[in-house]
Amino acid sequence: MKDFLKSSVGRKYIMGLTGLVWVGFLFAHMAPNMLILFSAELYNAYTYSVTANKILLYAVEAILLSSLVIHVLMAILLTRQNRVARGAQYAVSANGEKAVSWGSRYMAAQGSAILAFIILHLITFKYGTYYETTVNGVVMRDMHRLVVEVFQSPAYVAWYFICLGLMVFHVSHGAASVFQSFGILERKLQGGIKKFAWVYAIVIVTGFLSQPVYVFLFHK
Ligand code: HEM
Repeated sequence: MKDFLKSSVGRKYIMGLTGLVWVGFLFAHMAPNMLILFSAELYNAYTYSVTANKILLYAVEAILLSSLVIHVLMAILLTRQNRVARGAQYAVSANGEKAVSWGSRYMAAQGSAILAFIILHLITFKYGTYYETTVNGVVMRDMHRLVVEVFQSPAYVAWYFICLGLMVFHVSHGAASVFQSFGILERKLQGGIKKFAWVYAIVIVTGFLSQPVYVFLFHK
């Protein structure tokens, strides 16, 4: 087990699994958020119901946070491992920078932007201004008001476009890379999984992007 965790295949496997947790969360987060296109009351009632069950909320947060930390840690270890391996392979090789493959360098840059996105996202929404409203006699947070307020800013909407665009590449390349490093799947199946990863990422991102676009265009 220790050897597996130290091997680059083992580390990629863990990156794939922890990435999958987030990929699953993204759909569960995007789909009900589409309510913002239809009704402020329903949207607020939904966010209220999610935060009302504290045990479930903390469990989900713990899983997401630990997956993210492990994913980033493995990425750092793997990048260092690849650098050392390449350095040894090409004794007279170019400088350390060039020794890192373009693919992994892009993945690291995308990953850093996505991490910045998540942190800013939490500061903006989860820990953002607390407005209150009443839906069917229940006092709750007016999350709809905050989201509408935030997406009035063209800069914020543009930032969402950039980061969600990066997410398509990150998720699809990540999925392809995990399956490739295992080499256990037939070529045909690998192709199918790559296609599925692209379609899945595009569905998620289109769903998410429709929200700021709708708010920006139709809520003045
Ligand atoms: C248009 C796109 C998005 C909108 C409108 C949106 C909206 C929100 C809102 C309103 C909350 C606060 C919920 C609450 O505390 O009641 C939230 C939480 C969160 N969002 Fe998003 N989100 C979007 C995209 C994303 C993306 C792409 C990610 C991940 C890469 C993400 C990750 C999270 C996380 C981790 C939380 C905290 C969940 C928790 O505390 O359990 N969101 N989002």
